[in-house]
Amino acid sequence: MEKLLEVKNLSISFTQYVQGLNRHDLRVISDLTIDVNSSEIVAVLGSSGSGKSLLAHSILGILPYNAHVTGEIKYNGKTLNQELKEELRGKEICLIPQSVNFLDPLMKVSEQAIGECKDDDEHKEKKIRQREIFDKYGLDESVDDMYPFELSGGMARKVLLSTALVGNPNLLIADEPTPGLDAKSVEETIQDIINLKKEGKGVLLITHEINVALKTADKIAIFYSGYVIEINKAENFNSADTVLHPYTKALINALPVNGFKFTDGVQPLEETLGCPYWENCPDRFDKCENHKPDLVNHDGIMIRCFKYEEADNGA
Ligand SMILES: Nc1ncnc2c1ncn2[C@@H]1O[C@H](COP(=O)(O)OP(=O)(O)OP(=O)(O)O)[C@@H](O)[C@H]1O
Ligand SMILES: [Mg+2]
Repeated sequence: MEKLLEVKNLSISFTQYVQGLNRHDLRVISDLTIDVNSSEIVAVLGSSGSGKSLLAHSILGILPYNAHVTGEIKYNGKTLNQELKEELRGKEICLIPQSVNFLDPLMKVSEQAIGECKDDDEHKEKKIRQREIFDKYGLDESVDDMYPFELSGGMARKVLLSTALVGNPNLLIADEPTPGLDAKSVEETIQDIINLKKEGKGVLLITHEINVALKTADKIAIFYSGYVIEINKAENFNSADTVLHPYTKALINALPVNGFKFTDGVQPLEETLGCPYWENCPDRFDKCENHKPDLVNHDGIMIRCFKYEEADNGA
């Protein structure tokens, strides 16, 4: 396995103007570190607003102009600067976007899926691939000539999915690829993602659906309030006893199979001085209020919690 994608200490903030000309920096991703190897599926799980799509957009180089980014993203050992991102986008690195608004309203969907081609031969080749993939997702030939406004929500999702696969990516970033799909298409999607892994490709799978993550992923990264708080092997997510972070434990206990044991509280929207989970954490220490734990390696599990730093220091 080779390192395909390396995201190191990524932070993203937006400059906002509140009450006239008062500048305010809103930090939405903080000190985020995550890797994807070849032949590996890494799922990113986190509640709404935790920064998952912004991570995807920063890898693809499609963040809004007012986003301020620090940290480093490497692909195949090379720093992904904006120029390289644009060169690889839609070819080696493909995105299944979360929003159907990514479809060009003025272009037939088959042409969007085929994308730019250097000559007629490449166009012919990609046309065959596009038809095969559309077919697999139940999009018949009449869909090829449709414009996005003619598609139902489910069809539009399938077009986005097919478009990323026609690109034959080496790294796929899938941002919520399954919501709104029928059960058969969800299974097809899962199978396609697993097939990419078998072919030696890497996949960053962003999802709300822990079941999809469990079925596909090798590793699962938990996002909370713009931080990665735990990266653990997928199989360890079958029980709250084998994950480490108190928030991850709460997440697993809240699943229907574990009896919907919900906890109170929401993730903070603003950057906090201490651990972002401090207020809701059943295991907090005094220092958690004013100090942030680092992401550390604890027996092969990446964890951001003082509980384990203390344990590792022999406390
Ligand atoms: N252009 C922007 N300007 C200011 N804030 C933004 C901008 N885009 C996103 N945000 C904020 O950044 C945070 C993370 O957004 P993001 O879209 O990455 O969340 P997400 O984890 O993908 O959520 P969801 O699960 O709902 O898709 C949110 O609080 C959002 O309001
Ligand atoms: Mg999102």
